[in-house]
Amino acid sequence: MKKILITRRLLKSNEERASKIWNVKLNATDEVYSQGELIKLSKNCDGILTSIVDKIDKKLIESLPASVKIISNFAVGFGNIDLDAAKNRNIVVTNTPDVLTDATAEIAMLLILGAARRANEGIQISKTQTWQWSADFLIGKQLSGSRLGILGMGRIGRAVAKRAKSFGMEIHYHNRSRLNKELESGATYHDNIKDLFSVSDFLSINCPATEKTKNIINKDSLKFFPNGAIITNSARGDMIEDNAMVEALKIKKIYALGLDVYKGEPKISSGYLNHPKVFVLPHLGSATKKTRTDMADLAINNIEEFFKTGTCVNKVN
Ligand code: DGY
Repeated sequence: MKKILITRRLLKSNEERASKIWNVKLNATDEVYSQGELIKLSKNCDGILTSIVDKIDKKLIESLPASVKIISNFAVGFGNIDLDAAKNRNIVVTNTPDVLTDATAEIAMLLILGAARRANEGIQISKTQTWQWSADFLIGKQLSGSRLGILGMGRIGRAVAKRAKSFGMEIHYHNRSRLNKELESGATYHDNIKDLFSVSDFLSINCPATEKTKNIINKDSLKFFPNGAIITNSARGDMIEDNAMVEALKIKKIYALGLDVYKGEPKISSGYLNHPKVFVLPHLGSATKKTRTDMADLAINNIEEFFKTGTCVNKVN
C-alpha cells in the first residue's frame, strides 16, 4: 500500500476516501508544517498532497527522501512549488484545474461588485447605525455599460467574462495568445497590456503568477488606465506592485480595489487596510464545500492516476 503525506486537513469525506486508498499521514491539528517537519514526515512516503501554504522550494525538494515520486498540489496554482527542482529529482507535480473555475469566478464578481459599490464602507457605516439615506450617500460605480478588461483569459477569466456580460459589461482581454471565436464569445482581444489597460474601466486579474506577470501592475502600467478605474485580483498577489497601487489610490488614479490574494499572505499592506475603497477578502476564491471537495478529490485522483499509469493529465512540470 502506498504511503501518502497529506500536509493540511481536507474535508472529512476526502480524508476518509484517501484513508481507504492509502496508508495516509494526516495532519490532525492542521498547523502549517515547517520545512524541517515536511522533510521528516515525508520519510518513506511515496507522495505528498500539498496545499498552497506549503513552500516546496528547491532546498526542500532536494532534501526529500528518494521514495517521494509525486507532489499533488491541492490548488490550481502551483507557485508554491519549484517545478524545475522537482523535475530534476524526477518528481511529478500536479494541480487541480477546472473544478474551481466557477467558485473563483463567483469571488471575482464579488470583488468587482464590492469594490464598485463601496461594500467596505457600507458594512462599516451600517454597523454604526447612525447612517441616513440621502441622494448622494455612498454613491459608487455601475457595472452595466462599463468596460471590463480581463488579464488572463483562461478558464477562470472566461468564466468571469460570462458572468460580467450578464451584468451588462463590455468585455476586453489580453492573453498570451488570442482565443478562437467561440471561446472569445464576443470579447475584444488586445495584444498588449497597454491597450487593454487603457480601455479598462474595470480590470479583473485572472492570469497565473509567472516571472512575466510578476508586478505587471506597477507604477508605469498604472498610468495606462482611465482615471478612476477599478482593479480586482482573484489570482495571486504577485501581480501587483503594492506601493505603486497604494499611491495610485491616494491620487485617485484608481478609484477602488477588490482583493482576495496578497503578496506575503496572510499579511496585507497597511496602505490597503487603511483605505476605505479597498474591499478585501482572505483568499476565498475556491472556498465552497462543493469546490473544496472536488479539488481534494482531484488531488487524490491525480496521485492514483500517476501510480497507475506513470503519468497524469494534470502534470504541470
Ligand atoms: C488555487 O487553487 O490556486 C486557489 O488559489 C486555492 O484556493
